[in-house]
Amino acid sequence: MLEPCTIVIFGATGNLAHYKLLPALYHLEAGGHLHPQTRILGFGRRPWSDAQWRAEVQGILAARVVGAPDPSVLTRLQERLHFVAGDLEAPDGCNELARRLREDDQFPTNRVFYLSLAPLHYAAAAEQLHALGLQAETDGWSRLVVEKPFGFDLESAQALDRRLHRYFTEDQIYRIDHYLGKNTVQNILVFRFANLLLEPLWNRNYIDHVQITHAETRGIEERGGFYDGVGALRDMIQSHLLQLLTLIAMEPPPSLDAEALRDEKVKVLRSIRAIPRAAVHAQACRAQYVAGRDQAGPVPGYLDETGVAHHSTTETYAALKLYIDNWRWRNVPFFIRTGKRLGRTNSLIAIRFKHPPQQLFQHTAIEQIRPNWILLNLQPHECMRFEIQVKQPGLEMRAQTERMDASTCTLSAEHNEAYEGLILDVIAGDHTHFLRSDEINWAWQVVDPVLKLWATERDFIPTYPAGTWGPGEANRLFDREDQHWRNGLDEE
Ligand code: BG6
Repeated sequence: MLEPCTIVIFGATGNLAHYKLLPALYHLEAGGHLHPQTRILGFGRRPWSDAQWRAEVQGILAARVVGAPDPSVLTRLQERLHFVAGDLEAPDGCNELARRLREDDQFPTNRVFYLSLAPLHYAAAAEQLHALGLQAETDGWSRLVVEKPFGFDLESAQALDRRLHRYFTEDQIYRIDHYLGKNTVQNILVFRFANLLLEPLWNRNYIDHVQITHAETRGIEERGGFYDGVGALRDMIQSHLLQLLTLIAMEPPPSLDAEALRDEKVKVLRSIRAIPRAAVHAQACRAQYVAGRDQAGPVPGYLDETGVAHHSTTETYAALKLYIDNWRWRNVPFFIRTGKRLGRTNSLIAIRFKHPPQQLFQHTAIEQIRPNWILLNLQPHECMRFEIQVKQPGLEMRAQTERMDASTCTLSAEHNEAYEGLILDVIAGDHTHFLRSDEINWAWQVVDPVLKLWATERDFIPTYPAGTWGPGEANRLFDREDQHWRNGLDEE
């Protein structure tokens, strides 16, 4: 059992707390993972008492927990919940927060400060905690959890880091990328480094290219205010998808310890070939959805979403071609794409192998052999598939693609929210699944040239109808005719 602590959620009434943090805390409670003395203190602008917040949380969980919350788990969780009304910029609420944390002895002195706030408040929150003296008390530990996006570009990320470091040591800071908490993402490490079978093939001699696709059918929902001006490249690629790339491309670390793992990820990011300004159009593509349809019927275009500026050219779709200039990957393209309002919600890593060196079957009915693929489907369900060529039964020499699925593909997706594991990691003081600042900076360096050029091209953006697979233009990233996007496990 982990140590008791007080989890202070700044922005407790916001979107992230409702969608992710409170359901994750409910599941931790249900699994018996929280110490009996652990307390959760919400801080937000609503003038709520503890009792009002408990009632609110009950409503939130009723809407979010699959199959309705268990009443006894809910009661146990509610007993841990407290609320302080306040605003980080006004002294009253902050002083009350400090008073309650110090004077009410039901709050353990180990503290997690979770910044579930708009990014522009991160530094001010850290400063406020310092002013209240809460970041460094002697009778317990204090940890600061910072959500993504960490900065807006390289410069702002470095500036934010400098400000956080004025008040907190690196050891106290936990920069979240919730993809690192996903079971399926952690499985990439096991798949690569617990199996000898793949390692000899995992390089430029055998792999033609790698694709990483994150597709969502949903639009930007009620997040227009945040998303507009941020866009898909910053929202998904700089963070989550580059993390996936590092896990696919990294060298085996000397151990699983946090620094060893992060060192290897940084090496990959550092080796990504910088995209010169003149090559941005050849290596990057962006677009925005216009009105279309999803499975339930017509859906509005991006410009009609709440919180979006009338003439916004923010991209809701982004695709990149990257090269990693090291021995293993030299000249193997990595294609990365993401988009809102695409044809299906699915995340897939697709690894395409080269053709065999000899065209042995060219004078048979087979003529051309299809390449092998390894497909790692991350969500909505986890599946690992190998595609190989076999002879069709019959007299003629014809080949067909055989799909070999891991037995786990048939299991229903087990409930395991990324945030549950990450919250426990913070309480345990384990940084393995959190980002180090150099990792974030190198990731910004990869996308910064593209962001800079796009920032100068603000009078036009290509579009795609909602419910489709994005702009046809994204196909131009491929170098050869026989390369194409894989949209899902079953679509070649
Ligand atoms: C968030 C992005 O970080 O990740 C969202 O801000 C995106 O725009 C989400 O929808 C995707 O996460 P998941 O876990 O649903 O794949």
